[in-house]
Amino acid sequence: MSGSSQRFLVRPSGPLRGELRVPGDKSISHRAVMLGALADGITTIEGFLPGEDCLATRRAFEAMDVACEETSETGMRIHGVGLYGLSEPSAPLDLGNSGTSMRLLSGLLAGQEFSSTLIGDASLSRRPMRRVTEPLARMGAQIETTEAGTAPLHIRGGQRLHGASFDLSVASAQVKSALLLAGLYAQEPTIVNEPGISRDHTERMLASFGVDVPVSGLSCRVRGGQRLKATTIDVPADLSSAAFPVVAALMVSGSDILLPGVGVNPSRAGILKILEMMGAQVSLLNVRAAGAEPIADLHIVAGPLHGVDVPPALVPLAIDEFPALLVAAAMASGVTRITGAAELRVKESDRIAAMAKGLEAVGVRVEEAEDGITVHGGGVRGGLVDALGDHRIAMSFAALGAVAPEGIEIVDVANVQTSFPGFVGAMAGLGLNIEQSA
Ligand code: S3P
Repeated sequence: MSGSSQRFLVRPSGPLRGELRVPGDKSISHRAVMLGALADGITTIEGFLPGEDCLATRRAFEAMDVACEETSETGMRIHGVGLYGLSEPSAPLDLGNSGTSMRLLSGLLAGQEFSSTLIGDASLSRRPMRRVTEPLARMGAQIETTEAGTAPLHIRGGQRLHGASFDLSVASAQVKSALLLAGLYAQEPTIVNEPGISRDHTERMLASFGVDVPVSGLSCRVRGGQRLKATTIDVPADLSSAAFPVVAALMVSGSDILLPGVGVNPSRAGILKILEMMGAQVSLLNVRAAGAEPIADLHIVAGPLHGVDVPPALVPLAIDEFPALLVAAAMASGVTRITGAAELRVKESDRIAAMAKGLEAVGVRVEEAEDGITVHGGGVRGGLVDALGDHRIAMSFAALGAVAPEGIEIVDVANVQTSFPGFVGAMAGLGLNIEQSA
């Protein structure tokens, strides 16, 4: 979808007010379909994200003969086929823009009796896949990539997988999850040791399906052959999507919004800590559990922000939220520095380059480094920004448009559908002055 002609035009907005139910968590929605498909029995999902990425996962399982029955716009019943019940797909599985689908499925499919091929759009076809195919090969998986280590991935079925112990060089939930899913099919236990915290939705959800996944510090393990028992998954609202109304409300004076039922899993909540360090008023009300995940109602009141040096330990806990944090940094007083974030260069776009270019285009001074960026805050003028087909770049600049005296026009925004369907209507409902054109 990259290169699409869809654009947003955002003009200076009055205070954002009211309540918004942000769509379901993308990471959790993917996993709910995958584990539901492998379970024995019918899994009920509430709050599923009907965004393009999760629909790509759903279509992949439908192509392997898993029935996914819609019960409402965000409700689904997955008719699980059991650990060994998937059927061979008759065509390559097209995962669109979704790195999570491709990386997790490569682990899951490496253990099947049948072969399969995974393909994606132009952005996904540029993203590094050796980080999953190499450790999976150590388990006995046979996966062929292009010479550059990218998709298409050809996964040869009928391999006997062996458990192994892995010391990952980067904290990555996608790599960890691919190994744990392959580990369900391995003869010996699979152990994953990470250098830092990455999101732990897979471990939590496997436990909800009755799988024993002992976790100790930065290490987790799984034994193969454990059956999954169908369950009910209540998907929280996605904190990564909440980030856009959160920063918009913080920046536009007089704003006061409530976002109910947002996931606040500590392995994801770095953005809240960083915003707090910047002086933001974000209150977590009514903290409670949605199944295995903690959720809260986020109450945000506008107020002045100041720049910070983001502690490197918080970087993996906020990795998807840096585009949103950087627009907040542009409006903060003083300087914000991010280091230790080289992973941002291999997301849906090179997010360091995309944000640097976009911020410069709207009048913000930035300095780009290989592993991060420095933003000189204090205000923004406005102008034209290319989102480069990256949903989070598009939504971040839409939030910034609210405080740009000349407004911000953002091009190539169609991929907002991957994670936040209804973004324009939702933000307009809070008071953002936003229009979309084809
Ligand atoms: C995800 C993990 C993260 C994140 C991505 C979703 C997941 O990537 O950036 O958007 O659902 O597992 P890492 O694999 O780098 O942790």
